[in-house]
Amino acid sequence: MKVCIIGASGKLGKYMVQHSLDRGYEVVGVCREKSVAKLDSFKGKMTIIPGPTNDREIIKKAVTGCDGVLTVLVPWGRNQYSTGTAQAVLDFARPKARLIFSCGWHITRDGLDRYPKILKLQEIAARWIGNMTRLIDLDNQIEACRRIFASDTLWTVVRGSDLEEGESQGLPVWSRHVGDPILQSNITRRIDYALFMVTALENEKLIREAPAIVGCRTASALAHAQMRETRH
Ligand SMILES: NC(=O)c1ccc[n+]([C@@H]2O[C@H](COP(=O)([O-])OP(=O)(O)OC[C@H]3O[C@@H](n4cnc5c(N)ncnc54)[C@H](OP(=O)(O)O)[C@@H]3O)[C@@H](O)[C@H]2O)c1
Repeated sequence: MKVCIIGASGKLGKYMVQHSLDRGYEVVGVCREKSVAKLDSFKGKMTIIPGPTNDREIIKKAVTGCDGVLTVLVPWGRNQYSTGTAQAVLDFARPKARLIFSCGWHITRDGLDRYPKILKLQEIAARWIGNMTRLIDLDNQIEACRRIFASDTLWTVVRGSDLEEGESQGLPVWSRHVGDPILQSNITRRIDYALFMVTALENEKLIREAPAIVGCRTASALAHAQMRETRH
């Protein structure tokens, strides 16, 4: 399996590189030129293509011949960064390639998510700050996901909860809708978010799904597991 990781130098990206190498995958990573040094610990183990992660020519070169593409979808700036990245991946990846994208719970696929008030307020604040500073464009990330959902590629959009650092606790659990009790704890280790992204490459059940994830050792995940055990 040859995989391309777009946004490889970020926190999530580096974990995805490590998980992919652990599985014996051949890894190609794209990251901004100024961030190449962040991947020094992987020198000789992966190919790095430096450049903006929304540059169509860079993405075309990077995804060529890849069986899977792991994309860190980020809403930076006001120049359609997310849609630039997503559209290039959709256009240039092999038709049969598995495409896995990261984003947050704020993305909804079918409008059936039920958000806690605090998350709604956070989104309003992020949108306001984004408009004032012009550093973040949440609506462009939403548009990027709309295009992914509408595409006939083999996509999965992994919707992350709040994240924390720490040792792996195992593969996160997921549900189709924010608001489902299993997700209530709203926390996932970043290393495990990356694990979910990488294992999704070989999980056909996740094709054209937008799983919202949460750590498998969180209170809400454990309560859900116990409830299922009691029922059976
Ligand atoms: N943070 C959270 O709590 C959270 C919660 C849920 C979901 N998520 C999702 O998880 C994914 C990773 O997010 P993260 O917060 O954990 O950060 P991260 O892994 O560090 O990723 C940030 C990425 O954005 C790039 N970047 C930073 N500034 C940029 C700029 N000005 N222009 C272009 N690219 C820039 C970074 O590249 P460089 O290495 O070049 O700086 C890196 O690839 C995202 O898809 C996010 O939506 C995050």
